[in-house]
Amino acid sequence: MIEVKKLTKQADNKLILRGVDLSINKGETVAILGPNGAGKSTLLKVLATLIKPTSGDIKINGLELKKNHIAIKKILGYLPHSSLLYDHYSPLENLVFFGNIYGVKDVEKRAKELVKEVGLSFFLNEPVKNFSRGMIQRIAIARAIVHEPEILLLDEPHTGLDQGAISILNTVILSMKKKGTTTLMVTHDFKQAAEICDRIIIVKNGKIVDDFKIENQSLGIVSEKYELQVEGVS
Ligand SMILES: Nc1ncnc2c1ncn2[C@@H]1O[C@H](COP(=O)(O)OP(=O)(O)OP(=O)(O)O)[C@@H](O)[C@H]1O
Ligand SMILES: [Mg+2]
Repeated sequence: MIEVKKLTKQADNKLILRGVDLSINKGETVAILGPNGAGKSTLLKVLATLIKPTSGDIKINGLELKKNHIAIKKILGYLPHSSLLYDHYSPLENLVFFGNIYGVKDVEKRAKELVKEVGLSFFLNEPVKNFSRGMIQRIAIARAIVHEPEILLLDEPHTGLDQGAISILNTVILSMKKKGTTTLMVTHDFKQAAEICDRIIIVKNGKIVDDFKIENQSLGIVSEKYELQVEGVS
């Protein structure tokens, strides 16, 4: 469960987030849509405890973010724009390294399973520096979930993925949802948002301008609401 109250974030005299109120229940899969520069990645970074809010209150699974960074980090999986992987390490070495940070049991077994899940077993021991963008993204996704986080924060997870990898990622997100994982995903891909999310949030100029549930994977509703809020078309 994520609870955000009156969140603001200022940097260089610029108010990036201007009073965000948000409540996300356990097991929800939520997409954050919005134009470039709206503040979506900034919101995710604040929730991932990477940057501090300027004001406001955040609770994650009942824990106050200000006071519980370490406990919160353990239950979060965060996929940023950059992969966070070590170039000279192989997928296996990367996943074992990050798994160990989180105290994952049978870490090598878990790492191998994940590499298989993202379809890269053939490259298990190749250094990541030789990988294509999509291959790196696949391993970055595996890294974000190595410790089976209760809450997943994904920043444009579908970017750079081919059709096969998109369906692998969607399967991963939906299977984690079945286990009760909460997912908050920033995306520009309305189709993927409609397909896997049960709720859409639209952010514009550092504020939430729309927040609605979707049923039957209705892409039409998503485009319609986005156009109305962001492009002013009705
Ligand atoms: N550390 C910082 N210092 C100053 N300005 C920043 C900082 N980080 C972000 N910004 C500004 O805040 C605004 C929101 O940035 P953010 O990366 O959150 O946008 P976004 O919604 O994720 O956009 P995109 O869709 O392009 O990824 C931008 O105008 C950006 O230049
Ligand atoms: Mg962004």
